[in-house]
Amino acid sequence: MLNEIENLRAEAVEAIGSADDPKQLEELRITYLGRNSRLTEILRGIGSLDPADRGPVGSTANKARQEIETLLNSRKEAVEAAALNESLAAGALDVTLPGRRAVDPGHLHILTQTRREIEDIFIGLGYGVIEGPEIEHDHYNFTALNHPPDHPARMLQDTFYVDPESLHIQPPPGPRDVVLRTHTSPMQVRTMESRPSPIFIIVPGRVYRRDSDATHTPMFHQIEGLALAPGITLADLRGTLLEFATAIFGEGRETRLRPHYFPFTEPSVEVDVSCFKCDRGTLPEGGRCPLCKGTGWLEILGAGMVDPNVFGWVQAHDHDPATSQGFAFGMGIERIAMLKHGVPDLRLFYENDIRFLEQF
Ligand code: DAH
Repeated sequence: MLNEIENLRAEAVEAIGSADDPKQLEELRITYLGRNSRLTEILRGIGSLDPADRGPVGSTANKARQEIETLLNSRKEAVEAAALNESLAAGALDVTLPGRRAVDPGHLHILTQTRREIEDIFIGLGYGVIEGPEIEHDHYNFTALNHPPDHPARMLQDTFYVDPESLHIQPPPGPRDVVLRTHTSPMQVRTMESRPSPIFIIVPGRVYRRDSDATHTPMFHQIEGLALAPGITLADLRGTLLEFATAIFGEGRETRLRPHYFPFTEPSVEVDVSCFKCDRGTLPEGGRCPLCKGTGWLEILGAGMVDPNVFGWVQAHDHDPATSQGFAFGMGIERIAMLKHGVPDLRLFYENDIRFLEQF
């Protein structure tokens, strides 16, 4: 019987050693240590053995049982650890792998870049940036800017009219028409109505006109400027615009004010900046400059001293036509971007051709 136990023990040790999954080990436990196993049978039958055999058989069988049990447990731990390692290895993430290049996230449109650049320059000069409505009362767009209802200058900006009934808004003062604003100048009067002097603001935004060719689109962008303070003069306007022109087009710029007409400024001027591509109309390599067409000057904006009649329309904050003083200016963002980057056709800004947009 001692031999039989030794054989069972050896058989179990071998089987357990080559088992490699937990289910197999459980089956081996039942086979060698279970209630119906031979070893259990031997241990149960000890009482019926010869008294002299009971001791050796009992202790050998118990030792075998313990050895098998210990072996089963340690083998089970080893098998489970191996399975865990294997699944960790299979699911491993190599964090040292270089990342894949993201799809190019794109960048701001050239007109947005230009608008922000202009805003930054004026913020640097102490101006605030405000916005106004694109759907505007005739009153603010024309009448309060000194274009009476039958004024011919309205024709220059013939525009899109909106049915006021459809808007559910307070009827405007004066003519009841509601328009898509033709310029950002309406914000001059709106701003004066909302705050007292001194005022230093710029107003970027979309404007609309019934126009369409290589240098005009039905929608484009302007930036209005308004500076009101006691004693402010045309010389301040000139200095401000020289500062602006130098910041946007580069060192060494000069400005030139030419008399012009706008209904809401008196006097009114058109402002030119010296061409930054050539020397007074002649290219460095010789020949006529195509940008300024040989004139040496680029027209960049309209401006002037706020007409006293405009102050007369302001109902609040004591902007008295007899004493109030300030300048205003208005420029096209597209025009500045075209000049700065040599863009020949305004419509390119809106076609969203990636080959064009990627150049800026
Ligand atoms: N609003 C004018 C336009 O759209 C531009 C302009 C001219 C604005 C003179 C001004 C100004 O503020 O003083 O043509």
